[in-house]
Amino acid sequence: MAKEINGEFTQRLTDWYRKNRRSLPWREDHEPYHVWVSEIMLQQTRVEAVRDYYLRFMRELPDIRALAEADEQTLLKLWEGLGYYNRVRNMHRAAVQIVEEKDGRFPQSYEEILALPGIGEYTAGAIASICFDQGSPAVDGNVLRVFSRLYEDRTDIKSAAAKKRIRAYLQSLYPESGCGDFTQALIELGALLCVPKGIPKCSLCPAAEFCRARENGTVQEFPVKVKKKERKKISKTVLILSCEGKTAVRQREKDGLLAGMYEFPNIDAQLTAEQALALAEQWGCEPRDLRRQLSCTHVFSHVEWEMTGYFIACGAAGGGFRWADDREMKEEIPLPSAFLYFI
Ligand code: ADE
Repeated sequence: MAKEINGEFTQRLTDWYRKNRRSLPWREDHEPYHVWVSEIMLQQTRVEAVRDYYLRFMRELPDIRALAEADEQTLLKLWEGLGYYNRVRNMHRAAVQIVEEKDGRFPQSYEEILALPGIGEYTAGAIASICFDQGSPAVDGNVLRVFSRLYEDRTDIKSAAAKKRIRAYLQSLYPESGCGDFTQALIELGALLCVPKGIPKCSLCPAAEFCRARENGTVQEFPVKVKKKERKKISKTVLILSCEGKTAVRQREKDGLLAGMYEFPNIDAQLTAEQALALAEQWGCEPRDLRRQLSCTHVFSHVEWEMTGYFIACGAAGGGFRWADDREMKEEIPLPSAFLYFI
């Protein structure tokens, strides 16, 4: 019989974390600004990918005041390639609020943290436990997966019910102190041993004795995921127009997907090379030479763009676009990953 999950479980996991944790830049101290920025970046993004973004962000904006004073374009550029750009806009709003209402001091209670723009239960729980040693669980996909295996819980892992149940249960497992280490132990267990893809490393797991799925040989059946609806597919033709060493870009609408980011001019249709050249002509760019053609697919959470890009040398910087040189493209223009493919 698998052991009952109780204080012994908490202690074992915490001890294991203290010995085996990865050395990550946001784990060097418990400064709320550091933990906050890292937790927001780590939503939807892998640790390896976040590391450099995090270090650059801290170099450019070392504290809450610097974040509050940053302009949108700087923020989007620092976030370029991470996706879900509203995350950084919300952080900016929260930073302004903290500076205006709290003289720059990060709030300490779970409720106050949760009330900040862009901070949900997961992030508030992570910050309150890691920075302020409060027993507030942070339930993300890793933790849900770990618990679905420990309990052989077949509830759809994406359901609000599963999350609520695990949150309430976890709350009772938090220690008197060392709450942050317990939060990170669960995250670390999910990342290093109780992995989502491939074979979980149960023989190394500090919680193996407590795990029903391990006992019954069903680990690979968990978590149970209900199949999502298919993503909508959109065909796009992207024109990478160059003229005298500059490239045409334009800013996207203020709302919707990739709001406020820049893009290469494009339309929602599959054009042939001739049609693409005709369009560049119509835009007043005097197309001269079709240099290259590239196709790729970019997957967002709800849609997929099937893109064909035409690289066209032009005689006129027309179209009402912003024509940016290499330095501007590199340092100033925030271009989402979907378009970075064409650079
Ligand atoms: N994923 C989410 N939060 C994390 C953290 N603090 N460390 C490593 N991976 C994480």
